[in-house]
Amino acid sequence: MEVDTGKLNSIVQKYNGDKSYILAIFQDIQRTYRFLPKEAIKYTCEQLDIPFSKGYEVATFYKTLSLKPRGKHTIHVCLGTACHLRGGPNVADTFERELQVKIGDTTGDDNFTLETVNCLGACALAPLVRVDEQDFGKTTPGGVKNIINEFRNGE
Ligand code: FES
Repeated sequence: MEVDTGKLNSIVQKYNGDKSYILAIFQDIQRTYRFLPKEAIKYTCEQLDIPFSKGYEVATFYKTLSLKPRGKHTIHVCLGTACHLRGGPNVADTFERELQVKIGDTTGDDNFTLETVNCLGACALAPLVRVDEQDFGKTTPGGVKNIINEFRNGE
């Protein structure tokens, strides 16, 4: 894909082209594209004067960085112990079916990325689903559609 080099330059400049800020730079780029395109890694490495392999290593090491395109909304289905015991796997299966994606993937319309996590720290609300910053407690498979619809129209 084509990347906006002007935008990348200004991000690199914000950190004075200092390669020790590479993680922060990548995070800013990810905020721009919702993921970290390989072309952006390549260009940034050139600007920072480090080998692509080094940049790629950083990009793959940090879980917060994604090399795959991400949806506008991220759905986290908790599968920690409490949520697992109270039906989390059924909820996750239902999301997969309704969105027609597998865990870790993004829908074709770029609206949703579906992921699972191990405990979101609110076990009393198990099974818990978090969409972006919003929590949905005591979720049932029957409630999955409503959650999706709440975000479906891009809000
Ligand atoms: S196990 Fe799901 S919130 Fe703790």
